[in-house]
Amino acid sequence: MRGVILAGGNGTRLHPLTLVTNKHLLPVYKKPMIYYPIETFRKLGITEILIVTSGEYLGHFYRLLRTGSELGVELHYEIQEGNDGTGAALLCAEEFVKDEDFMVILGDNIVCENIKRFVDDFEDEKKEFKAKILIAKVDDPKKYGVVEFEGKRITKLVEKPDNPFSNYVNTGLWICQPEVFSLLKKLKKSTRNEYETTDVLHTYAKEGKLTYGILNSKWTDAGTFEQLYQATVLMKELEDKAMQRDEVEFEGGKIG
Ligand code: TTP
Repeated sequence: MRGVILAGGNGTRLHPLTLVTNKHLLPVYKKPMIYYPIETFRKLGITEILIVTSGEYLGHFYRLLRTGSELGVELHYEIQEGNDGTGAALLCAEEFVKDEDFMVILGDNIVCENIKRFVDDFEDEKKEFKAKILIAKVDDPKKYGVVEFEGKRITKLVEKPDNPFSNYVNTGLWICQPEVFSLLKKLKKSTRNEYETTDVLHTYAKEGKLTYGILNSKWTDAGTFEQLYQATVLMKELEDKAMQRDEVEFEGGKIG
């Protein structure tokens, strides 16, 4: 399976930081944000990765990441002309994906859990479902794409509803089949004046063709100052915990 990271966009909620750089190059604790989705893919053994971003900062991404060999992956790059939505960005991946199932991560998503099972299970699920999304339970669903599910199906998916009907939301991580591109090509711009991948997922949900996996550990997107700050705090906590564990194991080793 190949991986696609959508790393374009305007990043207006992070102005003025994003007036001079791309959101995904901003720091989250010790690393630029883009390292986290790359790491998520690498842990899954998905090493062929496409980064889709605007031409404006493509050179900065390349300067930072090059071929990806230092991170243990093989990176490819594609330019999204204009920042008119994740649907338009995903369409740029058509040639890269060819005829395989693929996984998409919105580049400002940080997932801490190993989600191998989420991916492996799709092998069987794809006979029945056209796509799969990773969902998470949050306290403030209003800001996200809110979902409702029944059995293995997502039955409803509404972007930023005024009255959320559940606490489960769409994180920015999906598995799709290549036929998604024919739907993306038919997309019309939304009221936000963007081509939205959510509209395609919504179509699948209406057809009963969208399944899901639930994330049990912490997850954050880092698109606002508050979320960017929380993402940094989370990464520091995780690193501190890992260091404490290493110390305990090391001392255990000395005693033993
Ligand atoms: P958003 O956070 O919805 O949009 P944005 O990045 O433009 O930020 P803002 O709303 O503050 O202006 O985008 C979600 C993800 O999708 C993010 O990681 C960037 C990516 N994206 C693209 O790759 N291309 C696009 O045209 C857009 C709008 C987003």
